[in-house]
Amino acid sequence: AIDPQFEANRDVAEKHEGHRVWGPVDEPEQQGIHGTHVAVDFDICMADGACLEDCPVDVFEWTDTPGHPESDIKADPINETQCIDCMLCVDVCPVDAIDVDPG
Ligand code: SF4
Ligand code: F3S
Ligand code: ZN
Repeated sequence: AIDPQFEANRDVAEKHEGHRVWGPVDEPEQQGIHGTHVAVDFDICMADGACLEDCPVDVFEWTDTPGHPESDIKADPINETQCIDCMLCVDVCPVDAIDVDPG
């Protein structure tokens, strides 16, 4: 599962589509955690898609990660500022790849 303390335990490696990427990043095998308020551990996401289907405000979009061992697309929290903290995505992800931190 995603580390809920990732902000303390990781450093920002880069920016992607306006959000932070928390390292380590070593593409294509290591992709890091994308987003901060809505955070997706790309190294855990296996492209189930439930988060994209269920988010009421369309926070997520697919992004390509060719060569990653778990999946070659990931749910990217490109609209994390729109999040209403409903926690649906956290509940539906089968591999616990998502952390949402209200407040
Ligand atoms: Fe979307 Fe709710 Fe997840 Fe926020 S907590 S990203 S609004 S599903
Ligand atoms: Fe990935 Fe979980 Fe969404 S596996 S696509 S973050 S439901
Ligand atoms: Zn991203």
